[in-house]
Amino acid sequence: MSNKRLFLSSPHMSGNELKYIEKVFESNYIAPLGEYVNKFEDSIRNYTGTKNALAVVNGTAALHLALRVLGIGTDDDVLASTFTFIGSINAIIYQDANPVFLDSEKESWNICPKLLNKYLVECEKKPKALILTHLYGMSADIEKIADICKLHGIYLIEDAAESLGATYNGKHTGTFGDFGVYSFNGNKLLTTSGGGMLVSDNEEWIKKAMFYSTQAKEPYIHYEHIEYGYNYRMSNVLAAIGVAQMEVVEDRVLKKREIFKWYKEFLDNIDDIEFMPELENSRGNRWLTAMTFKNTSYEKVMKALDSVNVESRPLWKPMHMQPLFKDAKAILNGVSEDLYSKGLCVASSTTMTKDDVKMICDVIRDTCKSV
Ligand SMILES: Cc1ncc(COP(=O)(O)O)c(C=O)c1O
Repeated sequence: MSNKRLFLSSPHMSGNELKYIEKVFESNYIAPLGEYVNKFEDSIRNYTGTKNALAVVNGTAALHLALRVLGIGTDDDVLASTFTFIGSINAIIYQDANPVFLDSEKESWNICPKLLNKYLVECEKKPKALILTHLYGMSADIEKIADICKLHGIYLIEDAAESLGATYNGKHTGTFGDFGVYSFNGNKLLTTSGGGMLVSDNEEWIKKAMFYSTQAKEPYIHYEHIEYGYNYRMSNVLAAIGVAQMEVVEDRVLKKREIFKWYKEFLDNIDDIEFMPELENSRGNRWLTAMTFKNTSYEKVMKALDSVNVESRPLWKPMHMQPLFKDAKAILNGVSEDLYSKGLCVASSTTMTKDDVKMICDVIRDTCKSV
């Protein structure tokens, strides 16, 4: 095998990262504070339109801070997408609360608003919050869901870890709820190698999250502690990478969308394949191009792609199917299990060319034909 591996979503530098890191070194602020941490937060505020942003070590920590600030703790119920990555759920466990999993709708593959409303009308124990994932960078039916959360008096935390740059009616995912979270993990649209951002229009909450993220130090020179906190603040070195990455955020969204368009173009005439839908009035960032197969086994496609050095991965295994959550409550309609049984994410790195996508599509088409 001579060709270089094509990954699901590999880091893609803008070119200014090292220059800004050097500036950090010149300033000697090799610390979890400094000019670039502030600049990175400003760039997220300006881009997404949120009023406040806090840069932290990763998206999981940002979700944890959101739950802590909202006072969610032992035995509280927290609704969450079942069709998601575990990073969306771990914070609920850290807070000793109970995840209650909600299934998806076919229209968006994200949380079904009808199921959410039905549960909130009928449930005996009202959940404190909903953590909603915008899966694979595609917006959920977020306006409807935000309205339902308001109506029933539960907090909405948007897990926009995968969906930076995705919008609904022109408004950025991550800015509809009480809190939003972005991830800058190595595989995301933009990366700082590891990193996260917590956003909210509520300044007091972000101030409180800042307090918890820096060891909950009361304002005394000798460090007084009334509450416990965490060491979650982002390094100035990593924030320098983030600032350089934010300079190309729109380019990256447009390239991800272009990659999706190429997949669609090359696989258009294959009845066996359906792509992840995009809701009307929304713009997904198509972080990963995702598809399902009616007749072909996704495992067969995955093997065929691996043999030509191309990475692909089954759709997330729903949380309610995970051994860890075998006793958790789950409100189901069969959608996520069905998608999981027949779906695949394919290589979607922004460094890829149209020829790369054509080669991948040739392999997928041949595998589908051989069924
Ligand atoms: C949906 C989702 N939620 C949360 C996370 C956690 O983010 P991080 O890896 O930055 O902790 C990720 C990704 O890693 C994710 O894909």
